Amino acid sequence: MEVIILPSSKEIGALAADAIEELVRTKPAAVLGLATGSSPLPIYDELARRHDQDGLSFTQAHGFALDEYVGLPVGHPESYREVIRREFTNRVDVAPDNVHGPDGSAADIQAACLGYEEAIKAAGGVDLQILGVGTNGHIGFNEPGSSLASRTRIKTLADQTRQDNARFFDTIDQVPHHVVTQGLGTIMAARHVVLVAFGAGKAAAVRDFVEGPVTASCPASVLQFHPHATILVDEAAAAQLA
Ligand code: F6R
Repeated sequence: MEVIILPSSKEIGALAADAIEELVRTKPAAVLGLATGSSPLPIYDELARRHDQDGLSFTQAHGFALDEYVGLPVGHPESYREVIRREFTNRVDVAPDNVHGPDGSAADIQAACLGYEEAIKAAGGVDLQILGVGTNGHIGFNEPGSSLASRTRIKTLADQTRQDNARFFDTIDQVPHHVVTQGLGTIMAARHVVLVAFGAGKAAAVRDFVEGPVTASCPASVLQFHPHATILVDEAAAAQLA
């Protein structure tokens, strides 16, 4: 696990975008793992800028979202399918058919989860997975207690996560209780993971997953076992590292 401390989220976004640009230029049909929330926004902003100004193209690239809420109507602005469209894929030239997300409204969620795993496999696996980290150490929505070998499945959000995500909704009551998320085993199968975290609110989680024991109580700690994990943090998020 390589930890790089940078001055601000702007530099974090630029360095993560460098890794994605290098990948897409050498492998145009690269498979990108896409996270939502606030953390990846500087990356998506920088990739959109490079698309507009430097001709960085994603026409052959594929995208697989990490997770999706269960129970939000299709097209809801806070559904992760919509967030990814708005924040990233609509701003570049990814083919809409190449962008996939777990189906949180499937009648048979378990079958949909299996199908999602198959789709990732059929695309050749994820080349580069973008990740944020929850204040409780989750990645994707693998909340504390998640199996380190888990695959895509339905999960119940922790109260902490619902509170953290209430800022995207009018009231906390509107935050769904369930999600479909890639599992920790799914995330670990990505060839390169790039986790970004900024702000003091992430400092304890960063300390725990980088320097603490590998434990299901802090799901991101499983990344200590990943052969190619890059952790990009600002000084505030790095403040509790030894
Ligand atoms: C989002 C996701 C979550 C977030 C995490 C941090 O797709 O999988 O793990 O990355 O909750 O969220 P932010 O970046 O909003 O602090």
